[in-house]
Amino acid sequence: MMDYEVIGKPSAQYEGLTPNLSDYESAREGFDWYRDAFPELDWLPGGGLNNAYEAIDRHVHHGYGDKSAMIWAGKNGEEETYTYAEMKELSDRFGSVMNGLGIQRGDRVFIFMDRLPELYVAALGVLKAGGVIGPLFSAFGPDPVLDRMQDAGARFLITTPELRNKIESILSKVETLEKVIVVNKGGRYREPLAKGDLDYYELMSVASSEGFQIAGTGQYDYSIMHYTSGSTGKPKGVLHRHQAVVQQYMTGKWCLDLNFDDVYFCTADPGWVTGTSYGMMAPWTNGVTNVIYEGGFGANAYYDVIDRYKVTVWYTAPTAIRLLMRAGAGPVASHDLSSLRFIASVGEPLNPEAVVWGNEHYKMPIHDNWWQTETGAIMCSNYASMEVRAGSMGRPIPGVEMAVLDEDYNPKPAGEAGILALRPGWPSMMHAYWGQDEMYSSRFRKGWYITGDQASLDEDGYFWFQGRADDVINTAGHLVGPFEVESALIEHPAVAEAGVIGKPDPIAMEVVKAFVTLNPDYEWSTALRRELMQFSRQKLAAGVAPREIDVVDVMPKTRSGKIMRRLLKARELGLPEGDTSTLEDD
Ligand code: PRX
Repeated sequence: MMDYEVIGKPSAQYEGLTPNLSDYESAREGFDWYRDAFPELDWLPGGGLNNAYEAIDRHVHHGYGDKSAMIWAGKNGEEETYTYAEMKELSDRFGSVMNGLGIQRGDRVFIFMDRLPELYVAALGVLKAGGVIGPLFSAFGPDPVLDRMQDAGARFLITTPELRNKIESILSKVETLEKVIVVNKGGRYREPLAKGDLDYYELMSVASSEGFQIAGTGQYDYSIMHYTSGSTGKPKGVLHRHQAVVQQYMTGKWCLDLNFDDVYFCTADPGWVTGTSYGMMAPWTNGVTNVIYEGGFGANAYYDVIDRYKVTVWYTAPTAIRLLMRAGAGPVASHDLSSLRFIASVGEPLNPEAVVWGNEHYKMPIHDNWWQTETGAIMCSNYASMEVRAGSMGRPIPGVEMAVLDEDYNPKPAGEAGILALRPGWPSMMHAYWGQDEMYSSRFRKGWYITGDQASLDEDGYFWFQGRADDVINTAGHLVGPFEVESALIEHPAVAEAGVIGKPDPIAMEVVKAFVTLNPDYEWSTALRRELMQFSRQKLAAGVAPREIDVVDVMPKTRSGKIMRRLLKARELGLPEGDTSTLEDD
């Protein structure tokens, strides 16, 4: 048995409600089980399914059109509130815009935007028109945007004038791109739009929601794609289907405890999977009021949002929680956080001290849960209905089989660390890596989906995260593929080779660190280091670019020429060279 601290007993209302896994055994046998179990979802006439319909329109059809769906808190102090009826009307109208532009079922529409209300309206409109949305993190520089849009064959891009300018240099390289729709929110940007671009507000003012019909999407149609990093190659486009909404809806209930009256605040950006699955689909399918805060992290800023809008359920991430811990008790005391009744966290290991701190300062435990871009929704969770074991990511959701495997992919006994795996077949399971079938298949072994994480299981069925099984870096909850960073660095004329690792960090868990060798005519200097930092930040994004860069005389490589990132890491961490015997050597 492991040592852990039990934080927060389930409150009386949940007694006896811990889901009983055996009741859900049939889940893997077919998707229809979910359909019967969640009669609240409407489905489309004829048996189709559209996630935007289930999120928004369903509530309007059931008489809740006047309820607030979204409160937007802008970064300049703006505030806008939208009811479910308004969200339906606007997204229908945008669906009609997209139909007017000739969108076809399955077309990829990229959205590169800050958290503006128009991002959400546009995303829902595209989904209703049968398109696939590809949301991109607005901090990205031109390279990641180009790689992703080119890979996916994007046909449309929705963005803001500033962000469009940032990626101006790459737009003509995306050969499939036909139209750029630009949202100049509140006239924030004063220059005229670039020639050929379409003005979002003009399009919306002439479009009509009258007679708009949701495309007859089915449960297996693609809806959303998010790019995620592996240890080799550029990021891969993870494709999800409309049926993922079923699991997003139910885990919203089970793992975030969403009730119809809740005011919900998810701090994730829709450029990452948490920002769509739990920034859009889970809250809206559960009919809650969803607070969208445009600004970035700030202890006072987050607490202001909670205080001002009387947030009841808050979903955030360990890095944010560690920063809040560092900000201390002062900002907590100067805000009224009494509306909060449930806090959850995802994306990185939530250290036990953070759970204990939350319990002291917010007077409730922080509920860790685990999932991935590929899983589309929460798979393992500390439920409101069970005791929270500080440091554990909880137990699998009903119907899902999760296990710790040995190297031959056979289950290991409780207490031993191994490969974290899931039995395929849950509704929000990714259906493809765009155009990379082999890579997709490589994630499945002996009937298991291999997560890429290492974990252990205790005797009561709680899972404990141990680490990643690959070189992927988790910095502030964002996965960074070393290859993407290395590729950007070697584009600089001074750099011959680059090797990138995750260096442990007390706040962000890991920061990106790069080692380079130089081309013959270059000498290492602080000026060159600074130049490389700036170069990579411009190309990638501040959070993805290396925080530290060092030079090495020789890049350690395997016989086949692969850079030995693990050796670089061992050296960085001061591990004796002897300890590198466990490092992969090919
Ligand atoms: O390594 C695990 C870590 O984040 C990875 C998934 O990252 P991504 O696909 O970007 O999705 C993030 C949002 C769901 C996992 O393979 N991770 C996620 N949640 C946890 C975690 N590590 C430890 N504890 C967690 N609760």
